Amino acid sequence: MIEELRQLCLRRAIFFPESEIYGGFAGFYNYGPIGLKIKENFIRAWRKVFVEPDNIYEVETSLIQPKKVFEASGHLESFSDPIVQCKKCHSIHRADHLIEETLHIHVEGKSLDELQDIIYNNNIKCPKCRGELGQVRHFNLMFQTYVGPEGKEEAYLRPETAQGIFVAFRRLVSSLNPKLPFGIAQIGRSFRNEISPRHFLVRLRQFTQLEIEYFVHPKRKKIPNFNKWKNQELRILTREAQLKNEDVIVIKAKDAVKEGLIPHQALAYFMAKEMWFYKKLGIPEEALRFRHMLPEETPHYSKGNFDLEIKFDFGWKEVVGNAYRASYDLEKHTKHSGVELFVEENGKKIIPHVIEPSFGVERSLYAVLLYALQDDGRGWKWLKLPGFLAPYQVAIFPLVKDRKQIQTAKKIEKKLKKFNISCYYEDRQSIGKRYAKADEIGVRYCITVDEQTLKDKTITVRDRDTKEQERIEISKLKSYLSKKLETI
Ligand code: GAP
Repeated sequence: MIEELRQLCLRRAIFFPESEIYGGFAGFYNYGPIGLKIKENFIRAWRKVFVEPDNIYEVETSLIQPKKVFEASGHLESFSDPIVQCKKCHSIHRADHLIEETLHIHVEGKSLDELQDIIYNNNIKCPKCRGELGQVRHFNLMFQTYVGPEGKEEAYLRPETAQGIFVAFRRLVSSLNPKLPFGIAQIGRSFRNEISPRHFLVRLRQFTQLEIEYFVHPKRKKIPNFNKWKNQELRILTREAQLKNEDVIVIKAKDAVKEGLIPHQALAYFMAKEMWFYKKLGIPEEALRFRHMLPEETPHYSKGNFDLEIKFDFGWKEVVGNAYRASYDLEKHTKHSGVELFVEENGKKIIPHVIEPSFGVERSLYAVLLYALQDDGRGWKWLKLPGFLAPYQVAIFPLVKDRKQIQTAKKIEKKLKKFNISCYYEDRQSIGKRYAKADEIGVRYCITVDEQTLKDKTITVRDRDTKEQERIEISKLKSYLSKKLETI
């Protein structure tokens, strides 16, 4: 399926490689007009579910940040992956992935020495030339740059949007005067010099993150809107289950908090919404799970990390990282900048704890497209996207290139656009081909103007999923579509 999806994405320029005419640029993808519409719809839906219902403010901070930020955050020291170079052909490989692919064991979180021992003891060779492998070492994933004409100021492209929020914390708190709990959200590109970009949109060097830093009182365990989501069932792969090779448990958000499996209501709150959100996007329940990260994979300061993983064609992969980062970031930046980062409550200084859900847009869209791709024998593959995600909700066609049919169809297009229903007009090719092209990119409904329209002011509405057509009056089209189109 993956190759078919890739071909569809390229054919319709949903996504395509950067600098294609020069042979591409590994790890960098572009959005074409259709892909961009899907991305924008995804972000709109995300905002509606994760930002708007709560006390969460959205910001947009710099893509390039000075070295000091990453000295403080720890990225300069430890944001790295283990690599190993072949002594013969000099090709470089990610050591942990090489071991995992060769021995089919999980080695995330292992030290350089441990990885070195595994390679040596199992006689793992270079996958390209079978040559002997050298010393395993760290490779920092941040892109470095120099600012200004003299090139003296070292800076980095941000590897996550989060640090922009932490370093702006004082300014934001003084301007917004927010009450705990509150969140700061950021949507934007992040950059990581991944050693081996792969799996289409899964491991990129430039990608889009949707992050929320949700600040809570360090001693208060309750948050305002939890009740609305407390009964949402979560599928959790516990630490024990991972060690024993067992399956997920299904547990209500409230029980996971009560039993101490999830260390804070806010973390369970976001996880509950994520479960619901990805199901709405069309991912089947059994292809979703939260993996409780093992102690060796969890940063020392974290009180618990749960990755939302989706089952892709190549296996399970993290799509959202959920972390209870406590006060680590604010304390680190306070220490390095000399500026105290806190909120004031009743005259008292409080360093809040932070709970962070961090979403990857491209991974999410890849998963959504993968599960949306249909091949039901209609002669073309098509995307069963929920209406709120479809690049266009409606396509409008005159059956034939007749002046009056064209005029009427264009009038309908204008009217629907006025009502904020996304649509496009097309009169080229046969009607069958136009339906196929609309299905292929997930257009929810096709409206056709024909001979009869000119006589009785009715049009046909074709449902993408059933291929069934209904004849309805033009004057009732808007209310018909408002009832039918899926929302979030
Ligand atoms: N601030 C926390 C943070 O950045 P992360 O788990 O490293 O956490 C969050 O990243 C999300 O960003 C991931 O779940 C994934 O969806 C996306 N992401 C991370 N690295 C990526 C890459 N190389 N290519 C595409 N998406 C990536």
